[in-house]
Order: sequence, then C-alpha cells, then structure tokens
Amino acid sequence: MAGRPQAVAGDITRLSVDAIVNAANESLLGGGGVDGAIHRAAGPELLAHCQTLGGCPTGQAKITPGFRLPARHVIHAVGPVWHGGDRGEPDLLASCYRHCFRLAREHGLRSLAFPAISCGVYGYPHAAAAHIAVAECRHALEDNPDLEQVLLVAFDEAMANVLRQAISAA
Ligand code: APR
Repeated sequence: MAGRPQAVAGDITRLSVDAIVNAANESLLGGGGVDGAIHRAAGPELLAHCQTLGGCPTGQAKITPGFRLPARHVIHAVGPVWHGGDRGEPDLLASCYRHCFRLAREHGLRSLAFPAISCGVYGYPHAAAAHIAVAECRHALEDNPDLEQVLLVAFDEAMANVLRQAISAA
C-alpha cells in the first residue's frame, strides 16, 4: 500500500532488505534481545566495526555493513528507556525513526525493516510506540520517493496485531 509501512511477524535477522534496524544501546557494543540476535547473525566483524564508532546518543542512529546478515546494512538506533512518558520519551523514539530514515536517504536505501524499538527491555508501551513508528514511517514514505518498502517487524503475533491496528488507524 503506497505511503504505508507493512507489519510482519518474524525474525528481523532473516530479512534480505537494504537495511535492518537494530534496537541498540548507547555503547553500540551489543546486548540481548534483537541486538543480541543481530550481532549473532552478523558475526564478530559487526562488533569489531561498532567498536570504532564511539557509541551513539539516545534518539540517534548509526549505520554499519550487515556482514553475514542477508541485509546489506544495519542501522543501529538507540531508543529511550520508558520512565512513564514525562522525560521526553515520545520525542526521543520519534527521533530514532527520523534518524534511521535520514541515513536511509543518505545511502539511497530502498527497503528498510524496523523492530519494535524500545518495546522490550526498555519497557515502552506497545500501542504508543507503534503509533509513533507508523506516523514516522508515513512521513518518510511521503518525503522520500526512493523509499519503496518499510517493514515493521514484530517478534510475536500480539505485537504484529498492535502494529496492524496502528497502521489501519493512521
Ligand atoms: N527479530 C525481530 N524482533 C525481535 C527479535 C528478532 N530476532 N528479537 C527480539 N525482538 C523484539 C522484541 O520482542 C521487542 O518487541 O524487538 C523488540 C525490542 O526489544 P529489545 O530487543 O529488548 O530492545 P529494546 O526494548 O529497545 O531495549 C534495548 O536491550 O538488547 C538490549 O542492547 C540492547 O540495551 C539495549 C536494550
């Protein structure tokens, strides 16, 4: 559907898109969740490369090669930890998506897949995060004619339904 992201359920490390987004932390040195899965699938060269990047502030993102992943690139985005919503979390989450789309434009990427940034360990409420993700995806799809496919990847059906509801409500 033109101008809208698509919700899919599955393992983001298996998607052969131009870039998959990683829900990283400020060190960019790996972790659990999707960060751990991406580093395991990409292989040790990813960590070695990330060690040269000097970290990344919350709300921003940095791009690396995908190494052994089917995806050509990984965009490492650092989402906010949820503290109740009055510490700028919504703006920081939206900023993550905008930085990812800016990197996609700079690198001429046509297909992008996001996990549910901040919705795991970082505790962000799922429906609120999905609403922000969909809004930012729609803006990016309107602004960047080269962007052909944006996937919002859920690791389980419950999250996939939350994403689908956010997309149809937009
Ligand atoms: N594919 C797609 N989605 C996944 C995968 C996967 N292989 N593994 C986990 N997820 C989903 C989780 O179910 C959750 O919905 O990614 C979403 C984000 O959860 P986390 O990975 O916990 O990320 P986040 O909440 O942003 O916390 C980031 O966790 O792993 C550490 O280093 C990371 O410190 C950082 C923090």
